[in-house]
Amino acid sequence: MSDDIHESEEAEEDSHQDESQNEIPQQELKEVDMHDFNFVAYNEDIAILGSKGSGKSYLANNLLQNLHGINVYVWDFNHQFHDSRSILFHDLDDMTKTIEEAGNHTIHCILQDYNKEEQQFRKFCKFAFNRGNCVLIIDEVHTYCTKQKIIKEYNDLILSGRPRGVSVISISSRPASLPNNVLSNASHVFSFKLNLESDCEFLESYMGSEVWQLMPVDKRKKMRDAQELEKHSFYYRNMDEDSGVIGKI
Ligand SMILES: Nc1ncnc2c1ncn2[C@@H]1O[C@H](COP(=O)(O)OP(=O)(O)OP(=O)(O)O)[C@@H](O)[C@H]1O
Ligand SMILES: [Mg+2]
Repeated sequence: MSDDIHESEEAEEDSHQDESQNEIPQQELKEVDMHDFNFVAYNEDIAILGSKGSGKSYLANNLLQNLHGINVYVWDFNHQFHDSRSILFHDLDDMTKTIEEAGNHTIHCILQDYNKEEQQFRKFCKFAFNRGNCVLIIDEVHTYCTKQKIIKEYNDLILSGRPRGVSVISISSRPASLPNNVLSNASHVFSFKLNLESDCEFLESYMGSEVWQLMPVDKRKKMRDAQELEKHSFYYRNMDEDSGVIGKI
């Protein structure tokens, strides 16, 4: 576990500032690794959110590489995953066949399916639900479902996956358009930088006012005195705890 904490002079100054102006004092950036998050695979869900290019897939890749001895299947919509210990597939049927043949051996699969249609995504979700005991990483989940458009097979994973040992790591650049139960069922939420006020307001209702630090200073409604966050840093909350941390891997 890394406890390499960078304390900047500004952070020092912030602690002396009038907090009535700043509402919530700015937190220090904590350099973290995946072991800091106590993710319980097969039992908990994660949401990874943030604007385009903010670092979501990079973090998810890091997670994938650290899930030793765990079955992980990645729906890699935009070919953003690379892991020397994962098997790469371009066809869902090939992947499911290999997983079935692996029996009780754990396996990491990255699926960059040539077929990205909704029907294929449904089939991927259904396979994982029936199979059980796996962690799914679903990149660009907003491509398939929104608040207005619920995909039954994905929804089943979110609402009923846990008893079957299925964890879902949902990744999206449009947090406000995600079905509400994605956030309400996530035990761990990472949010990288945001650009849209609507996304920030939506996340604030789950994660608290600290999320305003994720917006550019000139677009913030709160925490205007807090410094602009470093590139690729995120605000993380274990949803069972009262507060979160600003971190970077
Ligand atoms: N912590 C980091 N350290 C160094 N480079 C990073 C880090 N996080 C992200 N990057 C780099 O920044 C770029 C964008 O990151 P990434 O692809 O993870 O963004 P994203 O949020 O998934 O974007 P998109 O929504 O477009 O998929 C990549 O080239 C990635 O390698
Ligand atoms: Mg990405």
